[in-house]
Amino acid sequence: MKIAVLVSGGGTNLQAIIDKVENGTIRNTSIEVVISNKKDAYALTRATKHGIAAECISPKEFEKREDFNKTLVETIKSYDVDLIVLAGYLVILPEMLVKEYKDRIINIHPSLIPSFCGPGMYGLKVHEEVLKRGVKVTGATVHFVDAGVDSGPILLQKAVEVKQGDTAEVLQKRVMEQAEWMILPQAIDMIANGKVEIIDSKAVIK
Ligand code: GRF
Repeated sequence: MKIAVLVSGGGTNLQAIIDKVENGTIRNTSIEVVISNKKDAYALTRATKHGIAAECISPKEFEKREDFNKTLVETIKSYDVDLIVLAGYLVILPEMLVKEYKDRIINIHPSLIPSFCGPGMYGLKVHEEVLKRGVKVTGATVHFVDAGVDSGPILLQKAVEVKQGDTAEVLQKRVMEQAEWMILPQAIDMIANGKVEIIDSKAVIK
C-alpha cells in the first residue's frame, strides 16, 4: 500500500511511521511522499534523511486558495497513493480531496474523540483543555476523515492516564509516546493488510 503523509510540525508521528515501516512492524506499506504546508517543518527533514520525497506546498504561496487546493490534489495524485495519513497537518483539506479519497484519509487526534476535538482543538490546546476540565483519562484517536472536523469514523483509540501535577507539555508527551506513536502505525498496518472496512459510517475491524 502506497501512502502520503501530510505534516505541519516536528514529525514525531511521521518518525514513528518511518521507523515501523523500516523495521517491518507496518507491513506491505511504502511512504511515497511527505507533504508539509511549512517549509521549515522538521518533519520534512526527517523524510529527506530517510530518502523519502519531501514537498512543501504552502497556501501562502498561492494567490487564490483554489490554486493551492488544486496543486495539493494534483501533487498527491501524482504519487498514486492508496492512503493519505494526516500526522499533525493543520491545513483544512480541499473538499475535492476528501471526496476523491473517501474512506482513504486518516487523521491522528490527541484526545478520545468526541471529547476535546473540533475547530481550534489541536496541539497543546487539547491538553490544556483536558487539564482545565480535570478529566482523569485522556488519550488519542485515529479516525477516517470526512467533510467535518475530527468527525469521521473512529478506527482506533488508546487511553492515557492524566497524572497529578501534569503540565500540558508533560501530558502531550505522554499521549504521544503511549498512544499516538502506537495507534497511528497500527492503523496503517491494519488498513494495508485488509483488516478494516467502513460499514454504515463505522470502521469495522475484521
Ligand atoms: C500531535 O500532537 C498530533 O496528535 C497532532 O499534531 C501533533 C503532531 O506532532 N495531530 P508531530 O508533528 O507528529 O510531532
